[in-house]
Amino acid sequence: MKHFVSMKNLSEHEILQLIKLSEEFRQNEIHPFDKQLFAANLFFEPSTRTKVSFTVAQRKLGLEVLDFSSDISSVTKGESIYDTARTFESVGASLLVVRHPEDNIVQQLSEELSIPVINAGDGKGEHPTQSLLDLITIHQEYQKFNGLKVAIVGDIKHSRVARSNAYALTTLGAKVFLSSKPDWQDETLPFPYIEIDEAVEQCDVVMLLRIQHERHQGQAMMTSEDYLQRYGLTIEREKRMKQNAIIMHPAPVNRGVEIDDSLVECDRSRIFKQMTNGVTARMAVMYRLIQDGGIAHANDFSQRNAVNSR
Ligand code: NCD
Repeated sequence: MKHFVSMKNLSEHEILQLIKLSEEFRQNEIHPFDKQLFAANLFFEPSTRTKVSFTVAQRKLGLEVLDFSSDISSVTKGESIYDTARTFESVGASLLVVRHPEDNIVQQLSEELSIPVINAGDGKGEHPTQSLLDLITIHQEYQKFNGLKVAIVGDIKHSRVARSNAYALTTLGAKVFLSSKPDWQDETLPFPYIEIDEAVEQCDVVMLLRIQHERHQGQAMMTSEDYLQRYGLTIEREKRMKQNAIIMHPAPVNRGVEIDDSLVECDRSRIFKQMTNGVTARMAVMYRLIQDGGIAHANDFSQRNAVNSR
């Protein structure tokens, strides 16, 4: 693995190896690199979970964290994302984590730089580390993907999380269904659409998505209550879910809009567990990129893992 920008082209083997590596990190408190390495987090869009879990993951891997805020950087003087990234590369960053509002820009950047680039969410494009932590959460629950039915519900058209997960889950053998308000359906995604009432009754995982208001360009919105009743997970719908089915959401959650407030922390909800899994997921990705790119030498743990992954 040279970069981590999309789930679309990862093989089943590669995804399962990352899940396994993440699980090893969960069980071992380790600092695998003996060399000083710098990781830069370039966030051109707001973030809470993704940024903080990358930071925790970097510190756990023993990396020095270079922080960046676009609003107080030379971006305000007109500097491009490419020149910003090249600056971090030039001062010695070993890898870049990039979030940006424009689709495909992180992919493009990865082709222009010689250090690994991780996509932390590009516009409506992809969000591969979110997908990986979602997959880890599902795997912890069911220990398999084959045959599972997963409904991705909400603002599909503007969601990078939906895209990455739909591709990766299909690669792993799960059956993906989409459910959305008609004008938020995305015809470029080749998956069947079903009503939310069907999704809750048939699926093992109900994955809700936040309404991406910032990508709607002024479209009129129905009231929160109307949206919840028509398209969201109400208390009544939760009661009709399969016995062991789980609720997921990448967060931030609009409580009372895509999901009833009282369900966010109910027994079926794995929303906060997803956040916990974000740390080891990101450790696994950065670890793999540093190791595969020959950027640093591995200690005993990593040598064992390198052998396992062959
Ligand atoms: C998601 C994102 O930014 O794409 N959040 C996240 O990274 N946990 C989902 C969202 O913002 O709705």
